Order: sequence, then C-alpha cells, then structure tokens
Amino acid sequence: MRNLQLNSHGELQHLLTIEGLPRTMLTAILDNAAPFTEVAEREVKKLPLLRGKSVFNLFFENSTRTRTTFEIAAKRLSADVINLNINTSSASKGETLLDTIDNLAAMQADMFVVRHQSSGAPFLIAEHLAATGLDHIHVVNAGDGSHAHPTQALLDMYTIRHYKRDFTQLTVAVIGDILHSRVARSQIHALTTLGVPEVRVIAPKTLLPASVERLGVRVFHDMHEGLRGVDVVMMLRLQNERMNGALLPSPQEFFKSYGLTPEKLAQAKPDAIVMHPGPMNRGVEIDSAVADGTHSVILPQVTFGIAVRMAVMSMLAGA
Ligand code: CP
Repeated sequence: MRNLQLNSHGELQHLLTIEGLPRTMLTAILDNAAPFTEVAEREVKKLPLLRGKSVFNLFFENSTRTRTTFEIAAKRLSADVINLNINTSSASKGETLLDTIDNLAAMQADMFVVRHQSSGAPFLIAEHLAATGLDHIHVVNAGDGSHAHPTQALLDMYTIRHYKRDFTQLTVAVIGDILHSRVARSQIHALTTLGVPEVRVIAPKTLLPASVERLGVRVFHDMHEGLRGVDVVMMLRLQNERMNGALLPSPQEFFKSYGLTPEKLAQAKPDAIVMHPGPMNRGVEIDSAVADGTHSVILPQVTFGIAVRMAVMSMLAGA
C-alpha cells in the first residue's frame, strides 16, 4: 500500500488510505492546509497551483460535503473540474469501472477523486493506472465501502489541531457504528499515528469489528464511562445501507444508550469539542441541543475540509 501511495522520493503519489502513511506525511498535509484556510474562507480568491489540470470527480455513491468541497477546492486551485454524473454515464449501461477510467484517462485526466461503494475500488484504479503506464494520473480516495475515507480523517485531524493544538495530550472517543464506518477506521489510524495517547471507541458489541483493540483503541460499551474526561468526542453516522440483519433494537433504543445528549456530554471535559462527519441523524446519533450547541465544531469541520483537500490536491499535482 505504502509503495502505491508514495513515489520513489517519498512524495504523495495517490491518497488511498491513512494506514501506513508516516506521521511526517500527515503533519505535512495539515501544515500545508493552514495557509489554504484563507482561500477556503474567501479572503483570497484563487491560486494558480492546478492551472491547466483536469480533476475528475467520480462519485458512484451519494455525497454532499465531500463531492462539493473537492469541487470548490479544485476550482480555487484553478483546475478544470469535471463532475461525472454516474447515473447518466455509461457505467449505468454496464461499462466496467476500469473501462470508464481508460476513457477518462484518454481525455487527459490528471486526477481522479473517487467515491465507490466497494472497498478497494480506488486501489484497483491506482494499480490499473500503474500497470498501463498512466501513473502520472493521481487517485484520491473520497470514501470506499467500509474501508477508508482519508480526507475526512485529515480534515478531522486539522479540526482537532485547530482547537486543541497538541495531539499528544488528548483523550479522544469515537462513538457509534465503528463496524461499518470507513471514517472511524481512517480516524483511528490518523489519531494513533499522530500520537494521541488514548483513543477510545464506544459502541454496542454488534457495531464493533472483531479484535478492534488491535487498532490501538480502548473499548467501552457504556457512554457515561467512555466519555469520562475526554477532550474530543467524534460521533459517527449509523451506516444503515451497509447493515445486514438486525444489529440494533431500534433507532430510539440506540439513541437512549449511545445518542449524544447534553447529560452524557457532561461526563467529558468542560472544554471538550464535539465532531460529526455528517450527514447527521438527529435524535438517533446526536441530540440537536448538542449538534447546535457550544461544544459543536461540526460546521467548521466542513470549512476546514476545503483547505485540507486543497492541500492534498496541490501536494499531488500542484505546480
Ligand atoms: N462526511 C462525508 O463523507 O459526507 P458526504 O457523504 O456528504 O460526502
């Protein structure tokens, strides 16, 4: 995996997963994102770093935040952005993923931003590009199945660093549907790589992967215990579309035990921040009083996402 993501000089060639990326690379991405926040916040209009480059957004699964912020980020770097409408593309007529890629590569693509329901799809594309001598085209994973969502984890790390400064003093809790969540997997790899000394996961047994402790986390099944003294609360969406069979009694029962309410949040440190990657299910994962409350940094996460995606794209293909 590492060889596929980094070129022979140790530079970023593709961004497919956080797993295996060194701390120096994660820190470099966060450092590079910092000056882009001014562009993200419209204080500076546009930069020419991707002028003349074509970025193809290939979203085989729904998205609001990721697709839009990648588009904004690419445009603010002066790239040409092509959003392929999968429903009206030849993919809906049975064309294979790799045939679609070959055809878009023939249109002089420089970067594919790929979201796909199948874990591993962006890896398959990156391997195919290498095998066909097209490794000047970069691939960014915008979420693959239940595997990885690296730019979400990076924007989450940027948000944590913005509010808390030092990763090495923090206790962080990741809460909810860990089993199906590509966001959780990428967050855990990022947090442990960046030196967070205590990463907790809080979930019912049915929503935890087997041997999750091997990822370097402490497991809790009770919210009051798991939230005690934490600095950062990272909520997850219930991935109903990836659940097979009844893993939950009901959304109401889940909310009672694992929904983040002001009363449960009171266990965390007084200055704890609350995060959610979106889309939120209010009243299931999180109470509106918390989502819209003073601890919430959910909307700043989205804005930071533009800067982080600008940093990733400029590191991959910037002039
Ligand atoms: N966090 C996230 O991936 O949101 P979208 O599905 O809206 O892109």
